[in-house]
Formats: sequence, C-alpha cells, structure tokens
Amino acid sequence: MSSYEARFKVWRGDAQGGGLEDFKVEVNDGEVVLDIIHRLQATQAPDLAVRWNCKAGKCGSCSAEINGRPRLMCMTRMSVFTREETVTVTPLRTFPVIRDLVTDVGYNYAKAREVPSFVPPAGLGPGEYRMFQEDVDRPQEFRKCIECFLCQDVCHVVRDHEDNKQAYAGPRFLMRVAELDMHPLDAAAEAGLDRKRAAQDDHGLGYCNITKCCTEVCPEGIRITDNALIPLKERAVDRKYDPLVWLGSKIRRR
Ligand code: SF4
Ligand code: F3S
Ligand code: FES
Repeated sequence: MSSYEARFKVWRGDAQGGGLEDFKVEVNDGEVVLDIIHRLQATQAPDLAVRWNCKAGKCGSCSAEINGRPRLMCMTRMSVFTREETVTVTPLRTFPVIRDLVTDVGYNYAKAREVPSFVPPAGLGPGEYRMFQEDVDRPQEFRKCIECFLCQDVCHVVRDHEDNKQAYAGPRFLMRVAELDMHPLDAAAEAGLDRKRAAQDDHGLGYCNITKCCTEVCPEGIRITDNALIPLKERAVDRKYDPLVWLGSKIRRR
C-alpha cells in the first residue's frame, strides 16, 4: 500500500464566523475524503464537526463542498486529486452553518412539508392499482433520491439570492411535485388540488431557468432537469394556455 501526505484546507467556525485551517494529513490507497476528515478528527482536530452516517453514498448526510463543488465526502475518492493539489473542504454554502462542516438543512424539511402527498384514487384499495411500466419507471428514478440536498445547495436561485427561499422549493421538491403531477393514479385534482398551479404559485417553478447544475451534482444520477423540471414546466404552461382552463378561471372569478 502506498501513502503520501496531502495538504488540506478545512473550514472551521460557527454561525458567528470562521475560516479555513491548514492541515497536512496522511492519505492511503483507496481512501475517500471522509476517511481523511476522520483521520483529522482522530489525530489533529478532535472537535472537528462533520455529519455522516453510512459511508456508502446512501444516507445523504456527508454533503459538503470539495474544491468548490458540492459532493458527498464518502463518495469522493482522493485519487481524483493530484498529490500536489490542496484539497479544500467547506460546508454547503446555501444553508446556515451550525459548526465546521455541519449546516442546518431545515429549509429542505420545511419545503418537503409544503408538498401535499399522493391522493389515492377513490374506490381502489392498496394492491388494486394498475399502471403502465413507463409510469412506474419515472417515479422509480426520482425515488433514488437520498436527500443529500446537493442539488438544493448548487441551484443559483437560492444559492445567490437568500431572499428567494420563501418562494422557491428548489429542484428536489419540484421533482417531487412533478412525480405526483405525472402519477396516473394521483387523484389530487378530484380533491380540489391543482398541482400545476401550485408548482407555479406556491413552489416557484418559474424561478428555475434550466441551468441544469442540479442534475450535474446529483450523486444518484437523476436527470432532474430533463425528466422532472422541464416536463413540469410544459404541463404548467399547457394548463395556463388551455382555453377551457382560462374560461373556467374567468367564470369562477365572477
Ligand atoms: Fe441529492 Fe439528487 Fe436527491 Fe438532489 S435529487 S437531494 S442531488 S439525490
Ligand atoms: Fe436550479 Fe436546476 Fe433549475 S440548478 S435553475 S433547479 S435546472
Ligand atoms: Fe452517507 Fe456519505 S455518509 S452518504
């Protein structure tokens, strides 16, 4: 096994402020960035705060920015960097820092609660649902999501404009709206819930200008923009310019 000494810069601090601290640390073959953070905790910085759980890319806890790119620390091999390169690890920039590499991702849980859940069709019991395979494949892709919130972190709509957080659900939760709106058995409309209108008015779909950065950072390889956000935009626009919907809204306003 070969090993070398790597240079790391790790952000240390809390909500009041902080900065990058320099470290030199041993790296062995096959290690990932999270191994190095753990070695720092064990040998040089026992109070370094980091959130992690599975070390297998499945719990979504160890999200951070590595050399400025949102990534999972447990899935980023040290071999992607040259031995001479300084590796900089900072907390997710879009969310408030609690301490060191740990951020408060509560914004995401608040947005999750704003999306009404699946409405089962009246008169069908569990086990009686029948769907085409393509209608099964679509939500299965979306449900690979591990809620790492890297897509939420990278989307410029909230990353660069904190005040948009009120009005914008972000790619992960717009994807959830898309999943439900395209679900052939979702009976939300019969229950008086217009998911397309809600996507525009309540979840800020119009703020997304299809930069696709969310798709680029998703560790599950979910095609968030192409398979969820663009179809949802098309469906919302179809609704807006549907003459029957327009007429209905005029009549309702009287
Ligand atoms: Fe993470 Fe991808 Fe889910 Fe976004 S869609 S939270 S990037 S797994
Ligand atoms: Fe943001 Fe993704 Fe749209 S990064 S702007 S939600 S395509
Ligand atoms: Fe679970 Fe990294 S520790 S995804």
